[in-house]
Amino acid sequence: MFLVISACSVGRPADDADGDEIYRQLCVSCHGADLSGGIGPPLGHGSNAARQPDEFLEFAIMMGLGSMPSFSSSLDEHQLDRLVDYLREEQKG
Ligand code: HEC
Repeated sequence: MFLVISACSVGRPADDADGDEIYRQLCVSCHGADLSGGIGPPLGHGSNAARQPDEFLEFAIMMGLGSMPSFSSSLDEHQLDRLVDYLREEQKG
């Protein structure tokens, strides 16, 4: 039972997790600790993502993009807002 519960909670940030925590839990493995990219493209200051509107970032995160998975089952709209705010803060450089 414990294993089932913990398996389900992997990839689901706490309801009140801030954007930084959500990024570290869901995104860091592919986009890097400093948002400089890796498996996925860079997301930080000077990146293509920094020049895109919020709607594009939200679309990519919730629907997935190419080989990036969709996170619509992991994030509610408040968590999504906090995650995008975090990316915008980091992109200021
Ligand atoms: C399994 C690896 C993986 C994970 C985890 C992942 N991504 Fe991605 N991401 C990618 C790849 C690969 C692309 C490029 C997709 C393409 O254009 O084909 C991408 C593209 C993006 C883009 C578009 C960037 C651009 O310049 O076009 C954004 C924004 C993005 N990811 C944000 C995130 C966020 C935020 C998270 C965490 C919720 C996340 N990604 C988690 C692999 C990942």
